Amino acid sequence: MNDLDQLVGAAQADFAATATPAELENAKARFLGKAGQVTELMKGLAALPVEEKKTRGAEINQTKQRIEALLTERRQALADAELQAQLKAEALDVTLPGRQRGTGGLHPVSRSLERIEAIFGSMGFDVADGPEIEEDWFNFTALNTPADHPARSMHDTFYVDTTAPDGGGHLLRTHTSPMQVRYAVQHVKKHAARIAAGEAMPEIRVIAPGRTYRVDSDATHSPMFHQCEGLWIGENVSFKDLKSVFTDFFRNFFESDDLTIRFRPSFFPFTEPSAEVDIAFASGPLKGRWLEVAGSGQVHPNVVRNFGLDPERYIGFAFGMGPDRLTMLRYGVNDLRLFFDGDLRFLSQFK
Ligand code: DAH
Repeated sequence: MNDLDQLVGAAQADFAATATPAELENAKARFLGKAGQVTELMKGLAALPVEEKKTRGAEINQTKQRIEALLTERRQALADAELQAQLKAEALDVTLPGRQRGTGGLHPVSRSLERIEAIFGSMGFDVADGPEIEEDWFNFTALNTPADHPARSMHDTFYVDTTAPDGGGHLLRTHTSPMQVRYAVQHVKKHAARIAAGEAMPEIRVIAPGRTYRVDSDATHSPMFHQCEGLWIGENVSFKDLKSVFTDFFRNFFESDDLTIRFRPSFFPFTEPSAEVDIAFASGPLKGRWLEVAGSGQVHPNVVRNFGLDPERYIGFAFGMGPDRLTMLRYGVNDLRLFFDGDLRFLSQFK
């Protein structure tokens, strides 16, 4: 191998050892640059005799061309490698499933509350909302349940700020019944002029759904649960009206025309007489069983008085039902706690 072949071999090795275009340009300079080895050989020609100059000159030119060809080849190889690396880095798997935006859904109990509001709304009932931290007066006393009344012990609850200077008297409401008083008092205020003039007051017809609290926890009781209160007061409202409202409501709610209703005598301090309301389905898995769904009764004269109305003139009924229970019956859920555990495997079935 002559010196020129060696030079080509050296250039090839140097070029192959480069990893970037910049390194390759540096390697090029060592052979083809102003002070590069090929250029030096050219300069050396001047000292040769004419004949030798021709052949040697042609050989050096060939050498230069071979090195230039190697350079071009390496440039291309580096460019290709760079492109491949870039493509790999930016690889996009078009067969991957798209990222989906999760679609939420209403909680089953919220669905029931919406149904309840819609059905009672269609029967002319207003929908009212009130505080969950309630005053003792609205939760108990105004509802004919004075401080020493035994019925209070059925409502073991969460009392707050009992050490406050005014004696506190706040608690997490144990039922939605305080909304009877809050709503009725507002209503009476609004129509005070008419009432004072002895004219008939527009009827009170309201439901008040919301969260309620008791110290209670098992498969059918939760420390936080929902109730929906109802109140209908006028000059001529009777149990007959209560029964027809309930029949309409439950048939609508459960989409079952042949469901039957019964009243069972009971006791509540704020109603007299009082009744538990049971329903029975004529078909389906619960066919023929009486299921307790609400408490109700004719509003007690003491409570009507606390509304600011004359119990000799105004009469009506109230009821309280459990939307959680209704939701369990509607969907066949047997453990109340499932509603409040927040487990998406359960909740997403209602989407
Ligand atoms: N507040 C009662 C409870 O939580 C339910 C109730 C019963 C409400 C009778 C009423 C009623 O309005 O008339 O157990």
